[in-house]
Amino acid sequence: MCGIVGYVGSRSASPLLLEGLKRLEYRGYDSAGIAMSNGNGLETRKAKGKITMLENVMTGHPLHGSVGIAHTRWATHGQPNECNAHPQVDCTTTIAVVHNGIIENYGALRKMLKMQGHTFTSETDTEVLAHLIEAAFDGKLEDAVIDALNLVEGTYGIAVLSSKDPGKIVCARKGSPLLIGLGDGEFYVASDVAAILQHTRQVVYLDDGEMGVLTKDGYEVLDLNARRVSKGVSRIDWSLDEIEKGGFDHFMLKEIFEQPQTIENTMRGRLVVEEGFSKLGGLNLTKEELQALEQIIITACGTSWHSGLIGEMYMEELARIRTEVEYASEFRYRNPIVTDKTLCIVISQSGETADTLAAMREAKRRGAKTLGLVNVVGSTIAREDDGGIYLHAGPEIGVASTKAFTSQVIALALLTLKMGRLRNMSVVQGREVASAMLALPEQIQSILDRAPEIEAIAERFKDATNFLYLGRGYNFPVALEGALKLKEISYIHAEGYPAAEMKHGPIALIDSEMPVVFIAPHDAVFDKVVSNVQEVKARGGKVICITSQHESVLDGLIDFEIRVPQTVDMLYPILTVVPLQLLAYYIAVKRGLNVDQPRNLAKSVTVE
Ligand code: G6P
Repeated sequence: MCGIVGYVGSRSASPLLLEGLKRLEYRGYDSAGIAMSNGNGLETRKAKGKITMLENVMTGHPLHGSVGIAHTRWATHGQPNECNAHPQVDCTTTIAVVHNGIIENYGALRKMLKMQGHTFTSETDTEVLAHLIEAAFDGKLEDAVIDALNLVEGTYGIAVLSSKDPGKIVCARKGSPLLIGLGDGEFYVASDVAAILQHTRQVVYLDDGEMGVLTKDGYEVLDLNARRVSKGVSRIDWSLDEIEKGGFDHFMLKEIFEQPQTIENTMRGRLVVEEGFSKLGGLNLTKEELQALEQIIITACGTSWHSGLIGEMYMEELARIRTEVEYASEFRYRNPIVTDKTLCIVISQSGETADTLAAMREAKRRGAKTLGLVNVVGSTIAREDDGGIYLHAGPEIGVASTKAFTSQVIALALLTLKMGRLRNMSVVQGREVASAMLALPEQIQSILDRAPEIEAIAERFKDATNFLYLGRGYNFPVALEGALKLKEISYIHAEGYPAAEMKHGPIALIDSEMPVVFIAPHDAVFDKVVSNVQEVKARGGKVICITSQHESVLDGLIDFEIRVPQTVDMLYPILTVVPLQLLAYYIAVKRGLNVDQPRNLAKSVTVE
């Protein structure tokens, strides 16, 4: 995810900013840049790739001065290249902006600014901020920033510098973290305390709607009406390692806990609740082309394949379009039936998985339109697909995928709303789904709040040698995903099965030592799953049940219950998968294993 660091004081800013950027590297990024203002006006240096690349640029063309802002960018709008890297500047290079977050109305603002004569040089949403501030500038940078921010919709953590109001950094926050670091005759701004911890442990956290104005003589916090806000100073006691993981023991746990936020990011600006519809700007398919589609093929690997299985049900049940899901590694070597009325949906967190990429190329060769559901902007799949939906889930560092899965399912639900409403889904049904989607972040949070209950179940079963995961309907893919999570990080053999199919084989495995996880929310197939629970119980299996409300019919049948909030049937996977991620995590930790980097696995498999 993007990172911000800024410095104003008496020391040379370049080394401090570069060092701060390196402390933010763990968050993931694909380009970096610095802007400084000194006697020569405002200058920037930027580079694609690692911070060492930026260092090389700065060795050749050093920047001098003691006021600067810097950024690591994880691309969201536009390719990861030098031009799109931050800082972004205005027409006359007198204003520089670094920005985390997304400006949702940047398209309209860009159009307006162009009509006013502004020239744009990047594809970023951020560049509109630089031009808006330029347009509003009247001597005082903070006033211009306030005017600009009042026109903006979306989320931001920003830091701004101007050669026309030198010696000052203005920063502001709405929905994207930002803090001011207090030194002795020097001040910092950062999106993450890791960037400045070397220099100070005294910080002021900005809240949404607040702005900081920093000079070497002091700082003040204002609201967006330029009124002063009094703020307390906090002391940071965490170590650097603790901070990088956000206070969590592992990246995987941090990523599981990020899900309320990440799925909100996937939905942001896309869901139109009143119309039960979604706005997806990157599909590159006209309404007519979408309506003419005869078939969808979803192709992916691993966890992404599991989200594809859910997508298949969405598309067939709600959009009434024939859909198949294929392992990418199989699809690429078959002779699949693909026509120019086929849409091939390619799902990949990394956008680099070799089999998935090859499957997409094969589908394209055969005439299909391709649509990538990808997390990493500018990755190979994102560059080569015909259209796409970025997940905006932020970098996923734990090898076992968690937050990417829930964002993939959300992206598929958004696409289904769009396709369904263009075909035969009623506005009432669309609205029901859309409003249930809006409730999900809070519902996930309520599950996360009960993590200790799941940890206790993990303690009970940490020495098991086999696990069975069973679910039906929308929750059958969740059973597969739950089993995969456990296998990947705890090395316990686990199988996911459709609950009723169990009696055709796996039932032979069940004895009093065998934990069986049922994913049984109160949906259309609940009663059917209860019969399957009875079959397991009759053979002495230990039943862990993920359900959505207490049902007396389950009394005496289940040994452990984990409850998730109620939602519409199709969205249960987004809730029911969360306890399974936590269960796998806690079991692996209790077995003393390397959760973030399990043996033999790679985050991104770029070989066949
Ligand atoms: C690897 C990872 C899995 C992931 C799969 C597909 O096997 O270990 O966690 O689900 O690749 O990755 P992708 O980036 O294409 O979603």
